[in-house]
Amino acid sequence: MSGETMLSVEKIDVFYGASQILFGVDLAVEKGRTLALLGRNGAGKSTTLKAIAGIAPPKRGSIRLHDREIAGAKPFAIARAGMGYVPEDRQVFPQHTVEDNLLIGAKKGPGGQDFWALKTVYEVFPILAGMKERKAGLLSGGEQQMLTIARTLMGNPDVLLLDEPSEGLAPIIVQAIGDLIRKLRGMGVTILLAEQNMHFCLGISEDAAVIDKGGIVYRGTIKDLRANEEVTRRYLAI
Ligand SMILES: Nc1ncnc2c1ncn2[C@@H]1O[C@H](COP(=O)(O)OP(=O)(O)OP(=O)(O)O)[C@@H](O)[C@H]1O
Ligand SMILES: [Mg+2]
Repeated sequence: MSGETMLSVEKIDVFYGASQILFGVDLAVEKGRTLALLGRNGAGKSTTLKAIAGIAPPKRGSIRLHDREIAGAKPFAIARAGMGYVPEDRQVFPQHTVEDNLLIGAKKGPGGQDFWALKTVYEVFPILAGMKERKAGLLSGGEQQMLTIARTLMGNPDVLLLDEPSEGLAPIIVQAIGDLIRKLRGMGVTILLAEQNMHFCLGISEDAAVIDKGGIVYRGTIKDLRANEEVTRRYLAI
């Protein structure tokens, strides 16, 4: 039943200064699958992604991409090893065109993969193809979110970390982002998706983990989670 583990996080403890934020967080994402990391405001979702991306390195524990230990490595080295990180603040280079923003992210993958180039990105994100020459600062929030995801894919990552891609967007745009992530999953991209909104993740991910107060409190399929009133009521804002 289990495939190849692409990303595994084992018992990581993360601190901001003297305060401990993550307590022994464990996660695994199999190749080609999408894991939803769900939790309320302040539960530790972003911190988990930052730890994996090297921005908030763990004090203890292990993070492996394929079989390579990356805990504590610098963010650029982790990116080069195949981690694609889309942070919650979805930064674009506002004065640069959409196409230049994409080219800024362009690199081969750790194994020399170059599947994601302008041509593929424009096929998968037709909305961006129609605005290549537009300055990124003029795009709507949803378009900027698409652009940051596309720019990250231009780096041919093995794993995509998405931090609340639906946050703050209008319902119709949220749906478009959901369709996009489903499409990426269908293409075999391995994704760790941090979200507050369980409903957004239904139909996107099969697997779910719930984090609360910096610790994992549930692990299973998202279908079982949805049916589990006690866990959803206790740990998710629905
Ligand atoms: N730079 C920081 N310094 C100190 N504490 C921080 C810092 N960033 C986050 N925290 C604290 O760490 C905890 C986890 O925050 P985190 O951003 O990981 O939560 P989250 O699950 O992503 O929440 P949200 O849904 O609001 O994005 C919170 O209590 C938060 O206040
Ligand atoms: Mg967050």
